[in-house]
Amino acid sequence: MIKVIVTGTSSGIGEAIALRLLHLPNAELIGVSRTQTIEHHRYTHKFIDLSDLEQVQLFQFPACENNDEIILINNSGVIGDIAPVGKKSDRAIIETFNINTIAPALLMNAFVNYYQNHTGLLKIINISSGAGRHPVASWADYCASKAAIDMFSEVIYEEQSGPNLKIISLAPGIVDTAMQTDIREADSALFPLSAHFKQLKHTGQLSSSSEVAKQIVDLITGQISWPDVISDVRDF
Ligand SMILES: NC(=O)c1ccc[n+]([C@@H]2O[C@H](COP(=O)([O-])OP(=O)(O)OC[C@H]3O[C@@H](n4cnc5c(N)ncnc54)[C@H](OP(=O)(O)O)[C@@H]3O)[C@@H](O)[C@H]2O)c1
Repeated sequence: MIKVIVTGTSSGIGEAIALRLLHLPNAELIGVSRTQTIEHHRYTHKFIDLSDLEQVQLFQFPACENNDEIILINNSGVIGDIAPVGKKSDRAIIETFNINTIAPALLMNAFVNYYQNHTGLLKIINISSGAGRHPVASWADYCASKAAIDMFSEVIYEEQSGPNLKIISLAPGIVDTAMQTDIREADSALFPLSAHFKQLKHTGQLSSSSEVAKQIVDLITGQISWPDVISDVRDF
């Protein structure tokens, strides 16, 4: 079996990945988010608020057979308060780092520890962002939280990568999800790139979450060969 733990299955990219994975007859999923949209006999939902780190630490990875392939997909993410530093709320900064960086780091730590004697394949897919690699004004906490996930992934790659564990920190491109709606709805007085993101939507330049999910599932099934730890779906 392929056992997949994926965060943020209630919307956007995470929901599309989960739905596509459920087409594989040998996949069993645990989805994590505050709300549930998917019902399936091979899908279990865990209601966890990833901004609450005590809830994250209570998460139990499932017991698996030694020949199972086990995959952790850290996908949940928030854009945070779209405003320049000095005008952001402290609460939003803390939540953005908790959801985008600290919760995935805790889950990776627990995953590597819990399955340390597992003989089947282990994979970690972190959904990062181009914004972790290029600064975007008014997204300081978002950019920094994704840059941190890239580096956390690179360190795991140095420490653990081998035939048993594969890891990738993957930028998904600009995808037509609720997050992009939040970006377009940001106060243009606080966000210099507001018009640019509206233009991308109006000129049809966003990819769909199902296209991106297909690429990620092709990566999981080996139809796309496993790329460098720091990757972007636009280079596949
Ligand atoms: N869309 C883009 O253009 C784009 C570009 C680059 C990177 N990304 C990355 O892609 C990933 C998915 O984003 P998306 O665009 O699909 O966004 P989305 O449609 O807004 O979905 C976000 C998901 O994260 C979950 N989430 C948010 N806060 C959470 C919390 N406190 N606890 C648990 N789960 C939480 C949401 O579930 P609940 O609200 O039910 O909890 C939802 O399922 C994110 O990491 C994002 O940074 C997106």
